[in-house]
Amino acid sequence: KTPDAHVPRDPRLIRLTGVHPFNVEAPLSALFNEGFLTSPELFYVRNHGAVPEVKDEEIPDWEFSVEGLVEKPFILTLRQLIAKYEQITCPVTLVCAGNRRKEQNQVRKSKGFSWGPAGVSTALFTGVAMSELIKRARPRKKARYVCMEGADKLPNGFYGTSVKLNWVMDPNKGMMLSYKMNGEMLRPDHGKPLRAVIPGQIGGRSVKWLKKLIVTATPSDNWYHIYDNRVLPTMVSPDESANKPKWWMDDRYAIYDLSTNSAIAYPAHEEQVCLVGGPEKYRAQGYAYGGGGRRVTRVELSLDKGRTWRLADIDYPEDRYRDAEQMLYGGRLDMSWRESCFCWCQWSLDFLVSELADAKDIVLRAMDESMNIQPKGNVLERPRHDEQPLVPRHYKQGRRL
Ligand code: MTE
Repeated sequence: KTPDAHVPRDPRLIRLTGVHPFNVEAPLSALFNEGFLTSPELFYVRNHGAVPEVKDEEIPDWEFSVEGLVEKPFILTLRQLIAKYEQITCPVTLVCAGNRRKEQNQVRKSKGFSWGPAGVSTALFTGVAMSELIKRARPRKKARYVCMEGADKLPNGFYGTSVKLNWVMDPNKGMMLSYKMNGEMLRPDHGKPLRAVIPGQIGGRSVKWLKKLIVTATPSDNWYHIYDNRVLPTMVSPDESANKPKWWMDDRYAIYDLSTNSAIAYPAHEEQVCLVGGPEKYRAQGYAYGGGGRRVTRVELSLDKGRTWRLADIDYPEDRYRDAEQMLYGGRLDMSWRESCFCWCQWSLDFLVSELADAKDIVLRAMDESMNIQPKGNVLERPRHDEQPLVPRHYKQGRRL
């Protein structure tokens, strides 16, 4: 029996680590076949420890605080958050920084466990703009960051991280506190009853089981902010960095925006395609996303290892939500103020089955509106040290060295 015995889970999810904590993704085809929105059952899960147990009757009284470098710190219950603030609903894709790390590890080994390509999921999140709460607390002059802390007690303290204050206050960044996913209250694995949703950035910034927003002058000194989700300079090997906090403490190496990415759902690995007697055409399909709200502007495929490329069609379901304006799940869906793209898109491209049969590999790449292009696998030279590195021996929780 694990500490999560109270949490219901779907047997289709694939475990990426041992029995506990719970880290899972859906089979890619099951995820992709769901379409734009992911049901809570198949939404990927990344937990560093045990899921806090919150009974349904306790949800309205869940308290969180807004404190730190502010004139008016306050504590609010979820009931008050719902009653006093404007409720909004927005589609957002969350992606773990380790999405597709299994493939990346084949190019160059990094720290962290081997995610397949389904560490990505999309939901309509309902809640309140984070900026509304920070505005009410009135940040002081020196305030630059908003730290977030969850209720899950881990070996190195509570899970926490930070983002910049000016991002929180920017409506185009879309940061919110959310208590509903696709119209139902959050499930335990996804932060029941309250979480942060930080669109366009790695999932690690979207703190679950949220208890505190702390306004500060410097980035979070939480262990998980410092020793998770970083890309250190190229010449720093994992061994070299292990006992050197100076590499980890430098916030320039923290990953915030997602990197441009795309993956092939069909043809799936080992999928059998009928060469004779079947349809003449095969539709290759998959997903792509950009980071920081940037739109994916092209997805290209190559059947000859990148010598020649073909342009795929892109469907952006997020745009259909952008054009709609209505009440949805108790929140106002109105993204007219938001230019940014915070969701995955789906691409497709038709091939002759005979062409596919002749191809050795299918190579795929996406590009965003800032011309950020997905790097080619075998030239990717960046070592990644994100997630659970070797622990520097002399780091003490809560203290900067
Ligand atoms: N928040 C808390 N409190 N504890 C956690 O372990 N994991 C983070 C983030 N927020 C985490 C957390 C990471 S690394 C990711 S990728 C996302 O939650 C995953 O969100 P999900 O499990 O709802 O998909």
